[in-house]
Amino acid sequence: MKSVCVRALILSVLLAVGGCGGGDGGADDTTPPITPSGYQWQLPKGFPTPKEASDNPLTEAKIELGRHLFYDLRMSVNQTMACASCHLPDRAFTDGRPTSIGATGEDHPRNAMSLSNVVYNATFNWANPGLTTLHAQALVPIFGEFPLELGWSDHETEILDRFRQDVIYQKLFAEAYPGEAEPVSADRVTKALAAFESILISGNSPYDQATFQGNPNAMSVSARRGQELFFSERMECFHCHGGFNFSQSVNHAGTRLAQAEFHNNGLYNIGGTGDYPLNNRGLWEFTQRPADMGRFRAPTLRNVELTGPYMHDGSIATLEGVIDHYARGGRIIQEGPLAGDGAKSPYKSELIVGFSLTTQEKQDVIAFLHSLTDWEFICDPRFIDPFGNFPRHIRCN
Ligand code: HEC
Ligand code: HEC
Repeated sequence: MKSVCVRALILSVLLAVGGCGGGDGGADDTTPPITPSGYQWQLPKGFPTPKEASDNPLTEAKIELGRHLFYDLRMSVNQTMACASCHLPDRAFTDGRPTSIGATGEDHPRNAMSLSNVVYNATFNWANPGLTTLHAQALVPIFGEFPLELGWSDHETEILDRFRQDVIYQKLFAEAYPGEAEPVSADRVTKALAAFESILISGNSPYDQATFQGNPNAMSVSARRGQELFFSERMECFHCHGGFNFSQSVNHAGTRLAQAEFHNNGLYNIGGTGDYPLNNRGLWEFTQRPADMGRFRAPTLRNVELTGPYMHDGSIATLEGVIDHYARGGRIIQEGPLAGDGAKSPYKSELIVGFSLTTQEKQDVIAFLHSLTDWEFICDPRFIDPFGNFPRHIRCN
């Protein structure tokens, strides 16, 4: 037994996944991982066990309540918008816009992030080092005023009363928070949403089938060549988009120190000073340190085929455009108020150096990125909109 355990450990170090025994790793089929509170995760092969927030134990009832709230238009002040308005399942929980628009029409400076595997993120949003739980993150769209997203500020009681007066929600809240005299509150809403988001786990793409499930032919020959390139020192992608989740920002059961890294990947260099546009300066907004200008989190690349347009401000429309950006070693903007050569930014990461690819190689890298699309995830019946507010455009069998 012991040697198996050691082998699992070595493997887990190599793959940056799980451990051995005791519900610590997703790789072991025989002992399904269980949270400290007793919830049983359904994890893809090769995935580590997520960390359960100590102040938000998971239960099926809480997940079910969260699923309803996530798709419910009553979640916004004017009953026009839900979380799902900006996080559509068809688009791997993004909205397809360069930048989002709130319930009352206010422009958000940022692109809506995918919720694929959010439970594993060490920090949330594009560049907020202080946001470390999903329920804390949910307060941003709910109460945020700059910009206004769902617009609860000054309307909290009115919005909560909608749920208090609905017999379906009376039952859902009572089951999610048993034994509470007054189970409907903003805190409980965020925790139920977080519970639902925790199960949005994507790990059955062709890449996963080839890598973790022993089926190399699940990936095309072109995608496999692209994988070699992605993981090569020539392209350097894997340094920032590495590990099972193709992101450096990872946290799961067993990680001692959650990893939270932010990088400037050379999108802007306004006036040659390294500046990024106002409202989109990344980590700098929290630290005001020059070196943090334009530093954002490298997001997961899982389901990236479905999550365009790309980058924190949606300023690159296609994956071809993304590859061109990295190949040049940064983006040049020739004229206008944002003019400047991102490749020459003093704050750019030293891993963004540029490279050249043949047309075939570029196609291969894109085929690899497409091999991260997980249709089982997109069509998972556990994530379905209970109200039919968001008609699906993808046919799921
Ligand atoms: C108006 C559109 C909009 C609405 C409504 C919205 N979001 Fe978002 N979401 C965004 C944008 C934009 C970001 C990126 C924010 C940033 O970085 O500043 C984001 C980021 C997130 C993230 C971070 C993902 C990550 O990988 O870090 C989570 C989680 C999330 N939203 C969940 C929710 C939930 C839950 C709701 C409903 C309570 C919600 N969102 C409502 C647009 C929206
Ligand atoms: C130095 C770290 C770093 C390296 C190396 C790197 N990236 Fe990124 N990547 C990032 C960061 C940071 C972002 C977000 C930047 C932003 O929005 O300002 C990003 C964004 C992206 C996005 C957009 C994702 C989305 O959801 O919008 C894609 C696609 C991507 N990178 C692919 C690649 C590929 C392919 C390579 C290799 C050629 C690569 N990256 C190399 C850090 C890196």
